[in-house]
Amino acid sequence: MIDLDDVGALKRNDPQGMRERIAELPWQCRQAWEIVEGQRFPADYAQADSVVILGMGGSAIGGDLVRTLVRDLCPVPIFVNREYDLPRFVGQGTLVIASSYSGNTEETLAAFQEASRRGAKLLALTTDGKLAQMAENLLTFSYLAQPRAALGFSLIMLLSILTELGFVPDPRPDLEEAIEVVEGLGSKVREEVPTSQNPAKQLALLLQGKLPVIYGAQHLAPVARRWKGQFNENGKCFAFFEVLPELHHNTVEAFPYPAELEDTGLILLLTSRLYHPRNTLRFQVTEEMLDQYGIPHWSMEAQGRSPLSQVLSTIHFGDYVSLYLAALRGVNPSSVETITYLKERLAQI
Ligand code: PA5
Repeated sequence: MIDLDDVGALKRNDPQGMRERIAELPWQCRQAWEIVEGQRFPADYAQADSVVILGMGGSAIGGDLVRTLVRDLCPVPIFVNREYDLPRFVGQGTLVIASSYSGNTEETLAAFQEASRRGAKLLALTTDGKLAQMAENLLTFSYLAQPRAALGFSLIMLLSILTELGFVPDPRPDLEEAIEVVEGLGSKVREEVPTSQNPAKQLALLLQGKLPVIYGAQHLAPVARRWKGQFNENGKCFAFFEVLPELHHNTVEAFPYPAELEDTGLILLLTSRLYHPRNTLRFQVTEEMLDQYGIPHWSMEAQGRSPLSQVLSTIHFGDYVSLYLAALRGVNPSSVETITYLKERLAQI
């Protein structure tokens, strides 16, 4: 097991430099904004009656996040599609944005082709691949990383597209605040900060041998999903997420029977001052109940004034936890051998 305070060992465990990609989140956000700013789109794109974002895994989560972030601002519905096909409503009035880091993800490509057949307004975000060849309206970025480590690009480019098309007001003051909060947080959780002062290392240690279940609500619901994905892909460990208030209508029935969770489970609660007051109350009551039934839990309040800064900073924290989890488990945080095996296996058939 790697000592989290041995920075040399952390680096040796991370030959592709996931730690550097994580640290680059603020830079990625700035770059992403600049790529899209001032771009010209076909005139009718601003008249779209709905927006559908296509993507999978590390390229889809930016869609979930942007959808939640602009929920109160965007006058048209936004739908995230993780399927080979499309819902019936997608047609000429829909703006379909395919987001794929590699540009070669089969589900995303199939749905993009279907959107093209239906005459939808098409746009693609990618670094390269078949998507770059297929798409007439294309925004590319160049960044050598795992797709999940390019989240600053996939999220902020989507936000910037919606801004350029006039669907949402200019979020730059919030983005500037978010970058400041992320930089401040990063200085407290990066690998040089010893465990005694580093809450991300402390959480990774707490998670050793545990099965995390992450609870989030509203703008932090997709962040709970992001933590789950990062713990899976970087830390190579099982993790699950749930969303409040929905979990109060089912999961809680299992609270009085916690046998399976007592030794291995750890519930991680992502709280926010920006939650609806009833959701804040629901988180408080949830913690009381978890105590009452002896279910181990841990909680964290999101930092920042705006939803965007809370989202980005909480993601940044979770990304570092996943990096330290990988070190504790002695696995390479960048490798995706099993995902690659599956993609190759399916491509053969
Ligand atoms: O993080 C990963 O590597 C995966 O979740 C990928 O994002 C996913 O397989 C989709 O690939 P791409 O992002 O290249 O479309």
